[in-house]
Amino acid sequence: MSNNIEGKVVVITGASSGLGEAAAHLLAKEGASLVLGARRADRLQSLVEEITNSGGKALAVSTDVTDRNQVQKLVDAAVETYGRIDVLINNAGVMLHSPLERFKVEDWDTMIDLNIKGVLYGIAAALPYMKEQKSGHFINVSSVAGHKVRPAGTVYSATKHAVRVISEGLRQEVKPYNIRTTIISPGAVETELIDRITETDIRETARSMTEGLALPAETFARIVAFAISQPDDVDVNEILFRPTKQEF
Ligand SMILES: NC(=O)c1ccc[n+]([C@@H]2O[C@H](COP(=O)([O-])OP(=O)(O)OC[C@H]3O[C@@H](n4cnc5c(N)ncnc54)[C@H](OP(=O)(O)O)[C@@H]3O)[C@@H](O)[C@H]2O)c1
Repeated sequence: MSNNIEGKVVVITGASSGLGEAAAHLLAKEGASLVLGARRADRLQSLVEEITNSGGKALAVSTDVTDRNQVQKLVDAAVETYGRIDVLINNAGVMLHSPLERFKVEDWDTMIDLNIKGVLYGIAAALPYMKEQKSGHFINVSSVAGHKVRPAGTVYSATKHAVRVISEGLRQEVKPYNIRTTIISPGAVETELIDRITETDIRETARSMTEGLALPAETFARIVAFAISQPDDVDVNEILFRPTKQEF
């Protein structure tokens, strides 16, 4: 029986580490052709080499998702190289926690530009192709923070709530085109996400909260594969997962 992944063309943003990288490895093993975007070209290139050396298909396109033209080039590369785009995983994101009263306005701007506008640019780039194909699948990465807010996580939480709202609106609007939409909301997963928090005390608190708790990134990859591998008439709209031990 087909896994409904083999032969699919999958574009992943934020593929140079963490969740995106793990999804790339698993989907390549399952027979997808991958187009991988992120800013760190060296990391993407090593990933492409690992995948192709194991018999998989992958292409790296250096991409900053805050630039609409670069996102369009990433998606266009999939169609130019493989003839279509079946899945876009809007995964690139940052979690720059800090209390509002510290006014880390640059971090707020970065999160809004990357976590919200980056996702919208992905939709703008891929939707015309998917409409034309009359098939496609958007997988948008939200978070537990897209379901609840905690101190120091206000702006991040707002961006991840926005991802869920955008995804649900998209789901309703693309009914005529046979397009599937999936929101994945991870709990704590071991990646580089916390390392990028700019406030030292907040970064250390986040580390101590997830130490010994965070799941490996392969967990996310399995959930992505689950959503894609469903028969075409099944649209897995939302998955929230946490480590079993996670309370928050
Ligand atoms: N790990 C968790 O516990 C967790 C929980 C809930 C949700 N999430 C979400 O999962 C997603 C992936 O994060 P992660 O945990 O895998 O963290 P990560 O290891 O830091 O990965 C983030 C990815 O986003 C990319 N990125 C950052 N800025 C970018 C930009 N301007 N343009 C393009 N790519 C950019 C990074 O690559 P470059 O720096 O090379 O560009 C990297 O590949 C994020 O949306 C995050 O909010 C993670």
